[in-house]
Parts: sequence; structure tokens; C-alpha cells
Amino acid sequence: MFSRKETVDRQYLKISREHQIVKDYFLKFQQILFEEKSNTMKMLRKSVKHFEEELLSHFRLEEIFIFPTALLCIPDITTVDLVLKLQKEHGLFERDMKTLLTMIEDTPGTVKEIPDPIRTALSSLTTAFIHHAENEMNVLFPEIDNDERANKIIEGFVK
Ligand SMILES: [Fe+2]
Ligand SMILES: [Fe+2]
Repeated sequence: MFSRKETVDRQYLKISREHQIVKDYFLKFQQILFEEKSNTMKMLRKSVKHFEEELLSHFRLEEIFIFPTALLCIPDITTVDLVLKLQKEHGLFERDMKTLLTMIEDTPGTVKEIPDPIRTALSSLTTAFIHHAENEMNVLFPEIDNDERANKIIEGFVK
């Protein structure tokens, strides 16, 4: 049996782990980009596809669980503004991820060097996502964690 604080910590731990998954993918992308092999495009396609799946389920978790709790419990203008910005960024990431997948799918699997537009798209998506995750980890999650009511809601959610 976990105490309330432990339960909340565990839930945040789960979300942090998902951010870790995201970091792991970025390392994987870097590896694929720098160690070009004969099956580079195939490897890239596979890992970007998996990354998209992980990312979308991570976004859903935040959208049904974290963001509404923040809006309800900490409805000051700064927090509302941050949540709306993060929510909007999720939409942009989904769109950019789809564009990137289309670019990858349109490139023949026999191509040995990753084309520059794909490198650029992958790199800008990575940078933007790291910034997004930092805003969540350093600003929004601690705010929620410090709010008693938000903790009660989270406790109800994880039961
Ligand atoms: Fe997010
Ligand atoms: Fe996140």
C-alpha cells in the first residue's frame, strides 16, 4: 500500500520515464544519422514510426490527466497560458511527425545517405521537443506537485 505522496511520486515517475523513452529515441536517431549503413533508411523509418506511437500515447496521457488537473487547480493566467502553449505544441509535433514520416516513406529504401531535408526535419523536431519537455518537467509538473488539490485529483485518478 502506498501513501498519498508515494502514489503521486510514482505517477510522476511514470511520466518522467516516458520522457526518458523520448530521450532514448533521440540517442537512437543520432546513432542512425551518424553511422550510415546500407539499411539506414529502413532503420530510420522503423524507429521514427515507433517514436511516433510512443509520443502520441505520451501526449494523450498528459492531455487527459495532467493538463486538465493543472487548469482546474492552478487557474492563474501564467499556468493557463503555459498549458495552452504545451497543448498547441502537441498538435504541431503530431503534424511535423506525420510530415517527417511522409518524407521518409517517399525516400527509396536503397538510399544510403539520409537526405538533408530529413536530417533537418528530424533535428528541428528533436530540439523543439526537448524544449517542450523541459517546460513540463521544470515548470508545470512541479507546480502541480506543489498543489494540494491537484494531488488529491491525481490520487483519485491513479486509484
Ligand atoms: Fe507534452
Ligand atoms: Fe511530456
